[in-house]
Amino acid sequence: MSAVSVSTHVRIFDTTLRDGEQSPGASLNSAEKMEIAVALAALGVDVIEAGFPAASPDDLAAVKRIAQEVGKPDGPIICGLARCVRGDIEKAWEAVQYAAKPRIHTFLSSSDIHLKYQMNMTREEALERAREMVRFARSLCPDIEFSPMDAGRSDWAYVSQMCAIAIEEGATTLNIPDTVGYMTPDEYGKLIAYLIENTPGGKDPAIFWSCHCHDDLGMATANTLAGLHAGARQAEVTINGIGERAGNTSLEEVVMALNTRSGFYGLETAIDTKQLTRISRMVANYTGMVVQPNKAIVGANAFSHEAGIHQDGQLKHQSTYEIMRPESVGVSESRLVLGKHSGRHAFKVRLRDLGFELSEDELRRAFERFKEVADKKKHITDADLQAILSDQLQGPVEVFKLRGMQVTCGQIGMPTATIKLEGPDGKEYIEAAIGTGPVDACYSAIDKIIKAPSRLLEFSVRAITEGIDALGEVTVRICSLDGEYQTYGGHGADPDIVVASAKAYLSALNRLLVATGGAGVTPEGESATIRMTGD
Ligand code: KIV
Ligand code: ZN
Repeated sequence: MSAVSVSTHVRIFDTTLRDGEQSPGASLNSAEKMEIAVALAALGVDVIEAGFPAASPDDLAAVKRIAQEVGKPDGPIICGLARCVRGDIEKAWEAVQYAAKPRIHTFLSSSDIHLKYQMNMTREEALERAREMVRFARSLCPDIEFSPMDAGRSDWAYVSQMCAIAIEEGATTLNIPDTVGYMTPDEYGKLIAYLIENTPGGKDPAIFWSCHCHDDLGMATANTLAGLHAGARQAEVTINGIGERAGNTSLEEVVMALNTRSGFYGLETAIDTKQLTRISRMVANYTGMVVQPNKAIVGANAFSHEAGIHQDGQLKHQSTYEIMRPESVGVSESRLVLGKHSGRHAFKVRLRDLGFELSEDELRRAFERFKEVADKKKHITDADLQAILSDQLQGPVEVFKLRGMQVTCGQIGMPTATIKLEGPDGKEYIEAAIGTGPVDACYSAIDKIIKAPSRLLEFSVRAITEGIDALGEVTVRICSLDGEYQTYGGHGADPDIVVASAKAYLSALNRLLVATGGAGVTPEGESATIRMTGD
């Protein structure tokens, strides 16, 4: 390990809203971005990369709003990404300047592959561009981060030369991207150590070296940890590891590795780890990107012990097969907490223990929903409560509300669904449809009411707790067919999985309607504003 970095604090730079949002299919509207940014600030991240302001006016507006509302003096640094292009840098500054602690992150390729085939630039030209643009960015903003893109496949001496120029021009964070996830942990650690050692100005305590790794070979977390071990003091990460292609390094894995193996790394972060599960669910619900059950830290099975020999050990002593306590990441044991006779006070206290601070109105609605579920399901666990609350708090604005449904299915006759929705005009709309199965029939009936052409891309269902009366949780992703092909996620939880499926589809359609300003296009191609049968 390099002897340079004396600080043991690792800055957590979250890029869920930028690199994470570049995941195929993960698109977030501005309200969702805002909520995620608020949750990231509460989690304790040091930097939020809120977006790429030059990408679109919507991106610029979202970054600006986050800078204004989350970028408080005691809050995180708010960062905007920019290519080494004057216009991008101006747009990034236009958006982040409202934060108490603004940052511009500018990048330029350093690999010969990128310079030759993508940028059509010589090495010398790229050095000159980096110099000019870092200087320009620094003339606007006091905090500049520079990334030599594709550093992982670049000539190390050239990367060092580019970083030295960035330091000379005022960058204080040098981020080293393994853009295509090509490196191994050993190599990446050596690259960071090499850069600290050989870059003029690189050992100055005011300079932060940063790790930015992609997961194409499944080594992003290992590479980031190797970089930190070698002296880097910033990790660029996303919640659930979402990001371009196979994703970025996941925040929860790096943070929990540093916590759990503090004896080895001797490093710490400011993250409140108890919030990890909650924010993971929030990001999964909003992006529609389901977390695989065996995902480290936040997967549904991360703390389940299945094999008899493991269960036996666990019952004798928890340390036999457990290296972290589930509570440390906000997973409460699936103990029985509430039932249908539980009162409002006990409900409120339990929610507070789980980290939910609700307004009176939210509490009233959550309690009503809890009673409905408790009528069908005898024991309500913490996991059930979390699903009920995610549904309520992380759902989109309800343009259409589910007011009732009836489904018949089985081997005789066609699966048929009747759906009753309340529209934005307060009227009720009822439609029936047949389908290849009960869920298909429901979705067809909903489609007859809401004319917002879309295609179902993904449908996943899981049981939140064990047992025949388990609460089912459905996540869907749909794609709008109005020319933009935007995707929208939806989430629903209910003891009846067909009802959960209808709720999930409706919440995705509501997101689509909110994002398109309530405008849809009828299947015939005719423009319409939320058309309903009977109009
Ligand atoms: O992976 C990458 O190279 C990036 C840069 C823009 C930092 O995301
Ligand atoms: Zn990246």
